[in-house]
Amino acid sequence: MSESLLVTGGAGFIGVNFVYYWLNKYPNDKVVVLDALTYAGNLSSLDGVQSNPNFTFVQGNILDQALVESILKEQGITKLVHFAAESHVDRSISGPDAFIETNVLGTHSLLKAAKNVWLTGDGLEHRFHHVSTDEVYGTLEPSDPPFSETTSYAPNSPYSASKAASDHLVRSYLHTYGLQVSTSNCSNNYGPYHFPEKLIPLVITNILREKPLPVYGDGQQIRDWLYVDDHARGIDLVLQRGLVGESYNIGGINEWANIDIVKLVCQIMTKKFADNLKLHEQFPEARSVIAGNPEALIEFVTDRPGHDRRYAIDPAKANAELGYQPLETFDSGIEKTIDWYLSQENWWKALLKV
Ligand SMILES: NC(=O)c1ccc[n+]([C@@H]2O[C@H](COP(=O)([O-])OP(=O)(O)OC[C@H]3O[C@@H](n4cnc5c(N)ncnc54)[C@H](O)[C@@H]3O)[C@@H](O)[C@H]2O)c1
Repeated sequence: MSESLLVTGGAGFIGVNFVYYWLNKYPNDKVVVLDALTYAGNLSSLDGVQSNPNFTFVQGNILDQALVESILKEQGITKLVHFAAESHVDRSISGPDAFIETNVLGTHSLLKAAKNVWLTGDGLEHRFHHVSTDEVYGTLEPSDPPFSETTSYAPNSPYSASKAASDHLVRSYLHTYGLQVSTSNCSNNYGPYHFPEKLIPLVITNILREKPLPVYGDGQQIRDWLYVDDHARGIDLVLQRGLVGESYNIGGINEWANIDIVKLVCQIMTKKFADNLKLHEQFPEARSVIAGNPEALIEFVTDRPGHDRRYAIDPAKANAELGYQPLETFDSGIEKTIDWYLSQENWWKALLKV
């Protein structure tokens, strides 16, 4: 049976990749994207689906409850996949208000809309799937076991605190009102369409523009990196096989220190530039990588306040209950990602002017 999905934040990094994943795998489903097109949303990222009759884009805010209710009713939405958020930790430190507004109040507004439209006693199955982060669990010591679904929440930044609050609200709407919800908490994603303020696209695009590669503190902060399509597949599995009311941790079993990621990107790009002289013409500014030494651009900068040292996900539950495991290797995923940025100069250059 075909489904109608409402994807909030579907013009952002993971949302866009999810929309392509979904319409490719389920071409008969309808997908409606609701996105406010903040600085992080980019309509051109959806160019590849705009002419698909099963795709609709609505520009709007998740805080607009009346708009969401009308979409749920008029489009016969059966599944809501909620990505829309303020997502950059640094911005949450300099301006936390927008994070509380979108991530907490916005999620609550969506929950109210789903409750009003879906809980009408018609007995139909619906699903409100909330996309969250491993950052809600706080930070790990080097020898600690990775986060599981039973790890206590201990968020340390306004971003992670706002996501934690939204996770609790989602849970409460099942237990209080019976809304059919699920949540996934995922580790750091990377891949195409990633806004160039985040570590991996920042390093790639700064090498191409001969800009410094800023590394916080000692660069030993550890993250568990997952290729974005593996995240989309994980959410798909939760929607198909996951139980209502459950949370699932989705991760890459792929821990890397930030400084090692920066050096890895430098190495791969050095090889690409050495093997392909056309890149020298395409990116004449990129003097350090052309000279074979982009690491010269690395600059250690003052650490982010409250910077978590380590995140790592234990995906055992998703593996056992959903059959989830990451498919992309880090070698192939990072290579694909760098190739994407090398071929999509117009996409990322337009964003750097925002
Ligand atoms: N990027 C990661 O590594 C990662 C990891 C785990 C979980 N997550 C979660 O996944 C989700 C998506 O992350 P992302 O990296 O794609 O974020 P993003 O910042 O790239 O995209 C967010 C999207 O939401 C839209 N948006 C923001 N506020 C809105 C509002 N009030 N109404 C409607 N739309 C609004 C933006 O325009 C943008 O298109 C977030 O909820 C984030 O917390 C991200």
